[in-house]
Amino acid sequence: MGYLLALDQGTTSSRAMVFDTDGQVRGVSQQEFAQHYPQPGWVEHDAHEILRTQFGCMRGALEAARIRPSEVLAIGLTNQRETTVLWDRATGQALAPAIVWQDRRTAGDCDRLREQGHADMIRRKTGLELDAYFSATKLAWLLREIPGARARANRGELAFGTIDTWLLWHLSAGELHVTDPGNAARTMLFDIHRQCWDDDLLAIFDIPRTLLPGIVDSVGVCGHSSAEAFGARVAIAGIGGDQQAATFGQACFDAGMAKNTYGTGCFMLMNTGAEAVESRNRLLTTIGWRRGGQTAYALEGSIFMGGALVQWLRDGLGLVRRASEIEALAASVPDTGGVVLVPAFTGLGAPYWDAYARGTLIGLTRGSSAAHIARAALEAIALQTVDLVEAMKRDGATPLLELRVDGGAAANNLLMQLQADLLGVPVVRPAMLETTALGAAYMAGLGAGVWRDTDALAAMWCEERRFEPALNEDHRAEMLARWHRAVERSRGWAQA
Ligand code: G3P
Repeated sequence: MGYLLALDQGTTSSRAMVFDTDGQVRGVSQQEFAQHYPQPGWVEHDAHEILRTQFGCMRGALEAARIRPSEVLAIGLTNQRETTVLWDRATGQALAPAIVWQDRRTAGDCDRLREQGHADMIRRKTGLELDAYFSATKLAWLLREIPGARARANRGELAFGTIDTWLLWHLSAGELHVTDPGNAARTMLFDIHRQCWDDDLLAIFDIPRTLLPGIVDSVGVCGHSSAEAFGARVAIAGIGGDQQAATFGQACFDAGMAKNTYGTGCFMLMNTGAEAVESRNRLLTTIGWRRGGQTAYALEGSIFMGGALVQWLRDGLGLVRRASEIEALAASVPDTGGVVLVPAFTGLGAPYWDAYARGTLIGLTRGSSAAHIARAALEAIALQTVDLVEAMKRDGATPLLELRVDGGAAANNLLMQLQADLLGVPVVRPAMLETTALGAAYMAGLGAGVWRDTDALAAMWCEERRFEPALNEDHRAEMLARWHRAVERSRGWAQA
């Protein structure tokens, strides 16, 4: 029997999982790492701590599975997307902390580009909304603010990468400087239709081409780990941003199939097949994956605060000691008593795209309690997802028959029931909630020829629980209307 190793580098933790060829977990290791908030709206990671924790987990997962590196058939990699690293090609040292996808420091740069009239062209080529979320303005910021960086970049001494590229570089001891089309699609420098770095975009953001990685298929062998970094030369055969990998892990292989991941944020992706569907309702058009030169596109709704809201209730407000206690606290009241929480802590993503919106807690009365706030937080996660589904509907997407869910917060039964109630469609939770790592393992296994086709993967997907909607339509409409009033109050707050 051989094994597949998935490296899953997320926003708040690094983890690694070993799977066997039946898709069963054989070993897991996970480590949280530090989040740095040097100024309001800024979010940074130490790129070297990411390496240390990720490689530590890699060894930990192999140990847990009791296997040697040489028993791994292929490695698949999945990562927090958009987060930007700039490093020295000679030493492999990052020049500055990684700027995390949630970081809002370049919101003003985006405003200026919008005023100059670039937003439409950017949307046409990249499928993205002009927003600080994506890598382009983060990289431009690093080149502008780090003394000497631009001159060094022009001389070809530096490399840029999202986290996949940063890990691949180090896993291959500097042999690989590559990314896949799905991750490239999140940089705002990549033409998703022609699938290449785009000169007009590079000019707008003033990014030298010398910095950019090569593009390889998401599924397929793109190179090998170095014996020095991994302990053996093993094929690297899968690369996918975490949301793309989760879509793959949920076996959403056909057009019209969608999943929602309740991780740090919430990300809903609908496979649209070979067609890049343009959104008229401020969703993103993005690349899911490319395999054998064939691309699967997706429509995406990105929400910046999902599960992280529960983390904030625990760490920021101290309402509970463990995140798992939120469900019982929220379930101790029948409703929020009119309290609404808009989790715009780092602005609002789809479909609002307001970098200046801020978290808003409204509707408090003398009767409001911690339980009402906890319930309002769970409702907010579900209500944000409803906004995405409504936008997809308006974009003419095939009506959802069910929503496949995953991510840490999908274990919360109350949240899943609220989601089904507020969406009005069944919510289906698979037996395997670690779909991101599973997706990376699937990609690697398919890329290395362990499985023949996606049908073999779809056959392994199995349901654990189905949540049926049970809310009457009037009540649902009332909750949505109240939510939208609260969202309006949160908007533009940080701009004043
Ligand atoms: O686009 C950001 C996303 O990739 C982060 O995912 O799972 O860390 O919330 P997650």
